[in-house]
Amino acid sequence: AAALPVERLTSAFTRTATAAVTSPAAPLFATPLVVPPVLKPTLSIAGTDYYDMTMRTAQQQILPGAKTPIWGYNGIFPGPTIRARKNRPIVIRQHNKLPADAAVHLHGGNVRSSSDGLPGQEIKPGKNRVYIYPNRQQASTLWYHDHVHHHEAFNTTQGLTGLYLITDPAEDRLGLPTGRYDVPMVIQDRSFNPDGSFRLPDPGKGEFFGEVPLVNGRPSPFFEVEQRRYRFRLLNAASSDCLHELTLGAGDSFHVIGTDGGLLTAPVQVNKLPLAPSERVEVIVDFSKYPVGSQIVLASSVFGLPMNLLRFDVKKAKGQDRLPGKLVPIERLKESKATVHRDFQLNLDPARGEMVINGKSFDPDRIDIRPKLGSTEVWTIHNAESAELPIPHVFHTHLVRFQILDRNGNAPAPFESGWKDSVTLQAGERVRIIMRFGDFPGRYLYHCHLLGHADAGMMATMFVTP
Ligand code: C2O
Ligand code: CU
Repeated sequence: AAALPVERLTSAFTRTATAAVTSPAAPLFATPLVVPPVLKPTLSIAGTDYYDMTMRTAQQQILPGAKTPIWGYNGIFPGPTIRARKNRPIVIRQHNKLPADAAVHLHGGNVRSSSDGLPGQEIKPGKNRVYIYPNRQQASTLWYHDHVHHHEAFNTTQGLTGLYLITDPAEDRLGLPTGRYDVPMVIQDRSFNPDGSFRLPDPGKGEFFGEVPLVNGRPSPFFEVEQRRYRFRLLNAASSDCLHELTLGAGDSFHVIGTDGGLLTAPVQVNKLPLAPSERVEVIVDFSKYPVGSQIVLASSVFGLPMNLLRFDVKKAKGQDRLPGKLVPIERLKESKATVHRDFQLNLDPARGEMVINGKSFDPDRIDIRPKLGSTEVWTIHNAESAELPIPHVFHTHLVRFQILDRNGNAPAPFESGWKDSVTLQAGERVRIIMRFGDFPGRYLYHCHLLGHADAGMMATMFVTP
């Protein structure tokens, strides 16, 4: 794997010194929030929806007065949103009109290995590939992004990300905000050259931080809301930026209703929230408590520096709504059912300049573990970084979602007690997770979702055996 200079890894910790000086200034709250369009099927037949998407280069206005060259699904950034229904399969043909290989991964998707976008399944320029998504899983906020090994950070930074939302009858019954009151927010950071083009990470080389926060591809937009409840689906689609603390207004409270893999059992009240790369959280914000004309900022602190993501501008209410007291039941996986226990140690190997799991960097020809289809396993994940170089890691599993059993021996926070497919570990932390290998045998990945870490080797292969 490519060498990984240590100074790039420490960029996270020196960011305060270098931030926001080189990108052209993006005025705060000057542009309205844009919601990515919902993709229409090319064909719907026999209970299946067929879609076509083309990955291509395009120009998009992101900063005022400049056009940014992007790589986009259907030429837009973020890509179009796909709305799926539980038990209604989707078949997508992805056409690659980019000047480079592409691989599309449905993050959080319970799909066959052949539709997972694995290394070895790259789509060459000018070619296409069909992905089949059975949608057997419950209502949840998933997303799709590029997964070409060593180029994941580079390709996704060019714009290859989009949302994939599954709904189901259990969710319908709750009367949660829908339509224009159900708003996805894809949070990313970018840096720009003076001509408005993205500054891009070097393929295979460490962490990447941007200076300008984007929500749905716009720099710190504003969003006009009515005095009522909204459902926001927040996705951190950044390459490395961990959004340690999302806050609303002056630390105002809001409710978490869902995580990566679906809704919680009941809303959880919080006034701040961490959201690491690839994690999703669904929240309900009640704007009826604010007077008309209020301006409330959604912010994140980045290593002590506030970063303004978006401003809500409160307008008059139209209509009524409520927050359900209960959401959906969650089957708790039992430790007593686990037949296999595994340990994973995640760290930078400074001598080799690689990011490793259990001392090994990614090799697409090696199978690291072989879980059995139908079995329950408990994994202990340890972020083995030192206090001197406290690098966080975000452990992500393809195919299976999991529940957090404990973090450093303590029960998980209520807002992370639901279904997850990504979990953050600060340096020194130990998290135990439990999962059941349900539907599909075959080859899948698990890796750190700080994309530069995955590119630098912090990724491994599991083969689920029938
Ligand atoms: Cu977002 Cu390998 O995943
Ligand atoms: Cu990592």
